[in-house]
Amino acid sequence: MLQLSYVLVYCALLAPYYAYSQSESEVFKPGPCPKLPHPLPKATLKDKIFMVGIFTNGKSLRGSPNLTPCKLIDFRNPEGYTLIGTDNKSYFLFYVCTENNVDGKKFNFEIATAFVVPKGPDPGTDKRIREALDKNKLGLKEWFPFCKV
Ligand SMILES: *[C@@H]1O[C@H](CO)[C@@H](O)[C@H](O)[C@H]1NC(C)=O
Repeated sequence: MLQLSYVLVYCALLAPYYAYSQSESEVFKPGPCPKLPHPLPKATLKDKIFMVGIFTNGKSLRGSPNLTPCKLIDFRNPEGYTLIGTDNKSYFLFYVCTENNVDGKKFNFEIATAFVVPKGPDPGTDKRIREALDKNKLGLKEWFPFCKV
């Protein structure tokens, strides 16, 4: 649990600063966080699951090719995240948006975090997961894996 919240907080809070330090910010979008057209109710799953990575707007946040194997963790709905895609058994896609003020202007930073069960779909290529992003009118085209399934 501790490790899960650590990684999620890391992604939601530190990634924008990392991205902003680059010459051109790719992951900040002007304006407040959008209201999702198709949020899903909270989910339950008794099995353990992998947190395999995130979708972002930033190409420069692309994952490293040398990924270590994913570790199984207990499933739960991450605090502050909204479920946007699932089949209730093999994959779960959660969305979070944070707002930041930069030079008096409001910007938002969004990510979608993907969880899959062992032998579950590859979020980077799975059509249903891409559709969940499209359905909610989210850019988030860049798949950034944390680990190897
Ligand atoms: C997943 O479970 C929820 C809550 O039980 C249900 O509303 C939803 O239709 C289910 N989705 C799928 C794809 O089975």
